[in-house]
Amino acid sequence: MSEKPVRIGIIGAGGIASAHLAAYRQVPGVQIRAVCDVVAGKAEEFIRRHAVEEAEAFTDHRRLLAEDSIEAVSVCTPHQFHHRPTVDALLAGKHVMCEKPMAASLAQAMEMVEAAERAGRILTIGFQSRYDANVDLARRVVVSGQLGAIYYVETGGGRRRGIPGGSFVKRDTAGGGALLDIGCYSLDTVLHMLGHPRALRVAGMTAAPFAGRPPYRERGIEVEDFAAAWVRLETGATLLFKIAWAMHADSLGTSLLLGDEGGLRIEAPGGLGDAGVRRLELFHDMGGMPVHTELPLARSDEPRPFLRKIGHFIAAVRSHGQAPIPGHQVLRSMAIIDAIYRSAQSGREEVVATV
Ligand SMILES: NC(=O)c1ccc[n+]([C@@H]2O[C@H](COP(=O)([O-])OP(=O)(O)OC[C@H]3O[C@@H](n4cnc5c(N)ncnc54)[C@H](O)[C@@H]3O)[C@@H](O)[C@H]2O)c1
Repeated sequence: MSEKPVRIGIIGAGGIASAHLAAYRQVPGVQIRAVCDVVAGKAEEFIRRHAVEEAEAFTDHRRLLAEDSIEAVSVCTPHQFHHRPTVDALLAGKHVMCEKPMAASLAQAMEMVEAAERAGRILTIGFQSRYDANVDLARRVVVSGQLGAIYYVETGGGRRRGIPGGSFVKRDTAGGGALLDIGCYSLDTVLHMLGHPRALRVAGMTAAPFAGRPPYRERGIEVEDFAAAWVRLETGATLLFKIAWAMHADSLGTSLLLGDEGGLRIEAPGGLGDAGVRRLELFHDMGGMPVHTELPLARSDEPRPFLRKIGHFIAAVRSHGQAPIPGHQVLRSMAIIDAIYRSAQSGREEVVATV
């Protein structure tokens, strides 16, 4: 017997909305019934370009949410505009797949979680990095306890030149730069590996050395292209984090987890989740001898992590199950991001909000 169709609305018809559409189309029984974009004509153009004949176009997400037949939405708007459509959608009884970063501020993210709890609806955050087979292999090594008590973690990554444009570099649409845009992946991934510990204190900095120079000057960049932080976790471990959209270097090093029984080095130059894992190495002692094992990487990662993230969302909607990447879990990394920005402003170590 075929399953009841799941009817979806997409809010924000820009770049990533096309990836959502392509993934939804590969999940049997999913129908895209509505597309919304604040720019007049953009939703219609999206519907035409992708031949989504069954979809209606909207310019106001509240009108889309008034459609009773729509059960769930993808929020694909710029960071600052994740919050409003997500809260409105949840309170209208829809399940939400919200793109990363969860929101442009911790306060927005907390309201989104409250709305999900109040409405009893799924709020999942679009970190396809959690479905990367090699990131998951690394997580399984950590969870297995092979590293012993973890006392030091290093993560992040960067690009030599990779500053985006458009809505990503303006404060009123993005709210922040490299830290929010790509730093969120590494922080979410590493906290997920560690079982989502709370962070207690953060000493952070941000910089924008490339914003004022050609070829970037013309883009009117208003946000940071680099961030780094020293984060104390409730477990007693310390996390060193760094992220760059651009830098005069080809790498910020590897991700590293050091425990009293072993160490795990993850070579992922773009950060955990931004560009994939190239090498995984496990260091430990065997009979008192230091040994070093290179773990075999997944040769192919099918279905692709992006398709898995959409597939898991739909499965949760169908089963009235738990959010695959629940908003309340992601609050922990949002609290670190919030403290990094505050510390960068104050020039002091800051207390992390309890979430
Ligand atoms: N998971 C991933 O791999 C991935 C990749 C790229 C982008 N993203 C995330 O997706 C989000 C969107 O990125 P993008 O590249 O598609 O940006 P984009 O600027 O190309 O598209 C955003 C669209 O949202 C529309 N919009 C803005 N406010 C709106 C509102 N209130 N209601 C309806 N539409 C609205 C804009 O007009 C625009 O068309 C960002 O937060 C980004 O971080 C995720």
